[in-house]
Amino acid sequence: MVTKEITILLIVKVLNFKKMINKYYEKLYSKLSSDQKLFLEKGYIVKKVESLESLNFFRTKIEQQINIKLKKNKINLNNFHKIIKTKNLNLFRLDLIKKINSSNYKKLDSRQHYFRLATKGIEKIVGKEIAMQNEISLSIQLPKDNSSLLPLHSDTWSGNSPFEVVLWLPLVDCFSSKSMFILENKNLKKFEKIYKKNSKNNSDQLYNSLKKYVKFIDIKYGEYMIFNQNLPHGNIVNKTNETRWSLNCRFKGLFTPYVNKKLGEVFKPISLAPASILGINYNYPIK
Ligand SMILES: [Fe+2]
Repeated sequence: MVTKEITILLIVKVLNFKKMINKYYEKLYSKLSSDQKLFLEKGYIVKKVESLESLNFFRTKIEQQINIKLKKNKINLNNFHKIIKTKNLNLFRLDLIKKINSSNYKKLDSRQHYFRLATKGIEKIVGKEIAMQNEISLSIQLPKDNSSLLPLHSDTWSGNSPFEVVLWLPLVDCFSSKSMFILENKNLKKFEKIYKKNSKNNSDQLYNSLKKYVKFIDIKYGEYMIFNQNLPHGNIVNKTNETRWSLNCRFKGLFTPYVNKKLGEVFKPISLAPASILGINYNYPIK
């Protein structure tokens, strides 16, 4: 009974908060920058990386690892499929992720490097007080490989907070099926209608019903994308003749709600305002 009352109280509080924020939405919306409006309307922004040094950091480290693991020098990442067998790909990829997130790389400021790629962009979308996922992830999509696909999904369906966004960094030019797709916000109603009709649809069926509405992101090496992971997105078999390489990591407002991925476990603070440091550490004087 008590639990039920607390739940009702929480729902009422959340609804009141939502009502209050939405009351100011129109006024606040007019003050947003064009990038911020674009992010709300389309669900993503693509911009030039803010630090070439940090971009080179990741590119060089990955090339070094390929050299160490596969004894291949001067590899063109686009042609990676020519030197690896599909059956060895996932192990190789997981090994590389382990390396990127190792304490050795963290000592080289790998997290800061990732944040520096798009600090201003993330601040525009997320705010100034930010939590960053502790681990950076890596995708490698070989041409014609159907073994490592991410079918249509929204990250919130598997326990991510709707307050998270993803910073996606291509290490090669990405386009059409070599890239990822997203259902833009304007088409979300179409998804909801299809989903409502038959919620037992699997991801492939959902994708087939929506494929004429999804947008494959055209993005070049040297650019980044921040996207709304609440919107349905994914990838399909890479039908091009080039391998896709991309890094990704999540960011969110430090003080926004967490779901399965908690602060201190999956997320760590990457920027904090002085007033918050004072507030967190404040103690009322004791008589
Ligand atoms: Fe996702």
